[in-house]
Amino acid sequence: MAGTELFGAEERREVQDVLETGMLFRYNHDVQRKGIWKAREFEEEIKKITGAKYAHAVCNGSAAIATALAASGIGAGDEVIVSPFTFIASIEAVLFVGAIPVFAEIDETLCLSAEGIEKAITKNTKAVCLVHMCGGMADMDPIMRVINDYNLILVEDAGQAFSASYKGTATGLFGTAGSYSFDFFKIATAGEGGIVVTNDEQVYRLIDTYSDHGHSHVGAKRGMEPHPILGFNYRISELHAAVGLAQSRKVPQIRETNRRHKKQLMEILSAIDGITFARTADPDGDSATFLNILLPDKESAKRTVEQFNETGVTGFDYWYTNMYHFINQWDHLKNLQTASKLAVEVLAPRQDYQNIYLPKAQDIVGRLISFSVRCTWSGDDVTMLGDQIAACVKSSVAETV
Ligand SMILES: Cc1ncc(COP(=O)(O)O)c(C=O)c1O
Repeated sequence: MAGTELFGAEERREVQDVLETGMLFRYNHDVQRKGIWKAREFEEEIKKITGAKYAHAVCNGSAAIATALAASGIGAGDEVIVSPFTFIASIEAVLFVGAIPVFAEIDETLCLSAEGIEKAITKNTKAVCLVHMCGGMADMDPIMRVINDYNLILVEDAGQAFSASYKGTATGLFGTAGSYSFDFFKIATAGEGGIVVTNDEQVYRLIDTYSDHGHSHVGAKRGMEPHPILGFNYRISELHAAVGLAQSRKVPQIRETNRRHKKQLMEILSAIDGITFARTADPDGDSATFLNILLPDKESAKRTVEQFNETGVTGFDYWYTNMYHFINQWDHLKNLQTASKLAVEVLAPRQDYQNIYLPKAQDIVGRLISFSVRCTWSGDDVTMLGDQIAACVKSSVAETV
């Protein structure tokens, strides 16, 4: 929720610029817009924060993944390795480009592991859609070895990990293309918004074209320029881009504050028997939007959640049963009720979604409780929360042994 905590005059000023011209459309209309180009400025800001050569704003993070996949050459019938622990958008995007999601194991980074990816590879595997979950990042060195050894395409869904990095490279920039979400719940919000990044000019051209009905945006008259590919309308509006721009400027400050709060919480909780933490593959690159604690087993995690509820502790997610981000909740996928007939027709004979066996994911997500880190907390708020978490864990772990 970090971005929305700091919503204020800066966002209003950027939106006001757009309202004064009335030019809500991101392309063309050069005279009416009087030099106001919020989508372009938003993209420039993202390039500055991530170091990406190219960034393109779209209407949401789900559209951003679909665009990244399509621009990376992934389409009908391709097998794409995906995570069982993500927001369903990562899976839907694979289906929406007509490809086939194949689930693999995660590790304690909460992301796909190199080992999990390697085990899921078949002769039909074309790509990996890697999700950087819960503000952190996947363990990229071993993953890149597998990607390169098997000559796979990597697309990163960094919907929850904008401004996180691994050994100096921003999430989203390891593969062919990557995506970020700027929905209401992320480190920065546009209301609804997404960004696709790449370092490859050709891929950028496809991203730009695909997300606007195939318009190549070359030449003066919109609609009459060349249309090299078919696409769809995933455009962002200038109003949303204006909010995203003001919010993303605040991200470096949010990230620094989040890191301080997360460190303080971890110091309190590392003294408590029964608490360990999800692994951050590069702690220096953490966006620190979540504190991810692991309990010894599923039962103590469930007891801890009950304790939190009984004692009024809020601001946490128990993904295993209480959120929509885990495969156990995706009944529609198991029943193949997807919007993509093509995917259903090719999926049914090739993947048995009723019987997916991922014991590591079941164990890790069953033990995981994540707290949203707030940048507006005071030091006392953090100490109080740390003490409350510690007390609940102590009693629930004692009860379950
Ligand atoms: C990992 C991940 N990817 C993609 C999305 C989708 O983003 P949006 O809500 O902007 O469409 C989300 C949203 O929560 C997400 O968590």
